[in-house]
Amino acid sequence: MKKNLGAMPALYPMPVLMVAAYDGGGTVNVMNAAWGTICDMDKIALIIDEEHKTVQNIRATGAFTVALADRDHMAEADFFGIATGNKMPDKFAKSGMSATRSAFVNAPVINEFPLTMECELAEVVETEHLHAVVGKIVNVVAEEAVLDEKGKVDASKLNAVIFDQFRSGYYVSGEQVGRAWNAGKDLMKRASK
Ligand SMILES: Cc1cc2nc3c(=O)[nH]c(=O)nc-3n(C[C@H](O)[C@H](O)[C@H](O)COP(=O)(O)O)c2cc1C
Repeated sequence: MKKNLGAMPALYPMPVLMVAAYDGGGTVNVMNAAWGTICDMDKIALIIDEEHKTVQNIRATGAFTVALADRDHMAEADFFGIATGNKMPDKFAKSGMSATRSAFVNAPVINEFPLTMECELAEVVETEHLHAVVGKIVNVVAEEAVLDEKGKVDASKLNAVIFDQFRSGYYVSGEQVGRAWNAGKDLMKRASK
């Protein structure tokens, strides 16, 4: 029996994205964003509020990075979603994490996160129902420890934290249960007969 739950954002899983940018003076700030998605092979869209310090920073520098939060740094990732650089200018320093300037864009790469997309600001989309920051991904930098023998990212090694917006839970991804464009092949064969 199904039950109507009313209107709600019923998507799962959501990523836990660490969006980092410098302010005009070169101070690092990071925020937590779950409402983000890939919107082209080299583009990422983040649905983030104009008021956030991060958005002001991205507008000032024209660049940002997006890292995947991992299990070992869940507390810092959550902190980046509670504290705001608008009220705590040394928010990043207080997290105890460290950063290195990206070799590709004018934005910080947080050293402790295993995988980071380095982005140039492509556009800010503002419509009645949307405020999105779109980035052009110019490079992805990853720890060797999360790569397989062929140099591809092995998701099972990422320990990426995922967000459950039903009950505000953090979960860890990792178990592979099938292969995309493959798990439905037999059904496709039968359906095509
Ligand atoms: C799990 C989680 C997910 C979040 N996702 C988003 C999001 O997708 N968009 C957004 O605008 N804010 C989101 N936030 C809130 C911001 O991270 C928060 O307001 C933060 O303080 C902004 O930091 P800043 O002002 O230093 O940029 C999220 C917070 C948490 C804890």
